[in-house]
Order: sequence, then C-alpha cells, then structure tokens
Amino acid sequence: MSETIIHADLDIETTKQSRIHEVDFDNLVFGRQFSDHMFVMEYENGKWGKPAVKPYGAFQVSPAMNVFHYGQAIFEGMKAFYKDENTVNIFRPKTHHDRFNFSARRICIPETEYEIFIEALETLLRLDHQWVPKKPGTSLYIRPFIFASDDLLAARSSDKFNYYIITSPVGAYYSEGFNPVSLTTSDKYVRAVQGGTGNVKTAGNYAASFLPAKKAKEQGYTQVLWLDAKENKYVEEVGTMNIHFLIDDTLVTPALNGSILPGVTRRSVLALAKEWGLNVEERKIALEEVFEAHESGSLKEVFGSGTAAVVSPVGLIEHNGRTIELDREKPGEFAQKCFDEITGIQYGKVDDRHNWIHSVNI
Ligand SMILES: Cc1ncc(COP(=O)(O)O)c(C=O)c1O
Repeated sequence: MSETIIHADLDIETTKQSRIHEVDFDNLVFGRQFSDHMFVMEYENGKWGKPAVKPYGAFQVSPAMNVFHYGQAIFEGMKAFYKDENTVNIFRPKTHHDRFNFSARRICIPETEYEIFIEALETLLRLDHQWVPKKPGTSLYIRPFIFASDDLLAARSSDKFNYYIITSPVGAYYSEGFNPVSLTTSDKYVRAVQGGTGNVKTAGNYAASFLPAKKAKEQGYTQVLWLDAKENKYVEEVGTMNIHFLIDDTLVTPALNGSILPGVTRRSVLALAKEWGLNVEERKIALEEVFEAHESGSLKEVFGSGTAAVVSPVGLIEHNGRTIELDREKPGEFAQKCFDEITGIQYGKVDDRHNWIHSVNI
C-alpha cells in the first residue's frame, strides 16, 4: 500500500515499505541497488504528461516496444553528495540537463524542462535522503533516461516516450587509493564518427563499444583509447571518460569535434585549469604527438575525467606495439589537485565559486 500526496507540480506517491535495510552501505556495488522512489513522466499525443514520483519498481512493457528494436534512448549520469544532516549537493544539474536535451534533439526525442527535472531531483532527494551515503568518497548516483515506448515495429521515431529518473547509492571509487588505468588503441573498431552520435549520450554508443572493450580487457588493458574514425590518428576519448594531457605546463584536451562526448567533468577540469593560470588548449592532438612528448620528457601527466571517478590517472598507453609508461603508483600533481578541488566543491568543503552546486535542503 502507498499514500498519494498531490504536490504543486508533481504527483507524489510514497512507499510504505522502504528497502533501505537491504543496503550494506559498507559494501556498495555500483548500480545494483536503487532507492525507494523514482520519477516518471510519459509523452504521447505530442506532449509530456503529468510528472510523478512513485515507489521504485518494475513496469510492464510490450515485446514490440520501439526501444528494444531501434535503441531510441538517451540518458544522463550525475551525482548527489552528502554535505551535512540538512543538505545534499547535486553537482552541475543544469549542465547535465542541457546535455540531456542536446542528446534528445539528436535522437529525435522530445526535450524536457529543467524546472521539472530539478523539482524531480529535489523531491527524490528529500524522500530518499537516507539513501545518500555519508562516508567520504561515496555519493548517490542519479540516472535520468528517456526511451521510445511505442509498440510499433516500423523503423521510425516513436510517438510515445517514457522518462524516468532512478537513483543508486555508490561507494568510494578510490577506496584503496588511486588506481591508474592502462589503455590500448584499436585499429579495427571506432567509437564514433563525425555526423554520428558520439557526442550524445545514447544507448547504442555503449552497446557498440562493449566488444572492443572486452577485447582490450582480454589483452590486459583497462579500457580502449579511442582514436578518430577517419585517420586513426587523433585522440578522442576513453570508454566513459574524456582525456587530458599535461605537456610541460599546457593542458591539452581533444577539442569537441562532434564525435566526442562533452563531459561535464571535462568542462570542470578545463575551468579549474584556466582559473589556476595553466595554458589550456582544446585542439586536435595526434597520438604521435603524445609519444613524442613522452620521448622528449615533456609529457607530465595523462588522466581521464568523468562523473564516476572525477579523474583517473593513466599509467600506460599501448599503440601498435609501442607503449608510453607513466608513474603507475599515484596520480600526477595536477590530476590530484583537480580531484581534491572538484570533490571538495561537491561535498561542500571548498567554496563553490563557479556555481556548480545545487543544494537541496533535506
Ligand atoms: C563516452 C563518455 N565520455 C566521457 C564521459 C565523461 O562525461 P561526464 O564527465 O559528464 O561524466 C562519459 C561519462 O558520462 C562517457 O560515457
């Protein structure tokens, strides 16, 4: 049984039976357990319907549902952080929502309003505030997603869509210290091409990357370092991270060329680097240039950036039998500084001078 409260804009139905006692907050597994409530909104007849928050649970679908066949689906990945007993901080929700709408336009999904998004997040966080883990490094992962829900096998854009937001408590990414990743390139597979969908968060991009990622793992590497699809020469990004190179005192980051995902963490790292007076270059960078910088001793650091880990130091890059080996035991000074600053802002310990935090009074 559950109880229904009519909110100003959202219908809210709360659960009578919380599942929080099932969670072992000392051993959280990424994306396996979901908080008590979820946000739901459906689109049909040319408009979004009434937004609602209700108990998390399965829903019935038809085998003919568009998303199963054509993958018309988008998502976001973001986090909320425990600040104190009255406050939970959401990191850059507006930037995530802008990207959500950017993805929606490309995948032919109707856009959604930020006001509803933020109200949904605030409502979920208030109802499920006990699901926000409190230990250092932990957070509540937030997964907004929209998928085509028409029961129609015609290969065209759906007329119906379902919009959900679910949340999941996640453990500290670096509970045992930073763990540098090793990367290998692929001369057989590409992640994305210009004009394709690499710059949006759509399901198919990930499905297509699983085989090359599996092969890289089998060869002993953590992930694939994606190169451009045309010349197999310029660095693009890594599995679920953007990539950065500190060459002497210049931070070089592959420019957003239409096939790279515009990461929110990437943007935060670049803003901090500029604020700290570093030379920042967003441009094409050939992997050969990285090898040359390494050989001449000017390659100081390589690291990935993403919501999951904030920064991930890269310890090794393999390409056609050649390797770059960096200090594999610890992150570089700059990556560490970015990590400390961004996490400091997220947990409310460092001044939020860039206005990245949306605080929710719980
Ligand atoms: C393909 C890809 N690149 C980069 C990123 C990093 O983006 P963000 O910093 O917004 O998490 C992600 C993760 O969302 C991703 O899936």
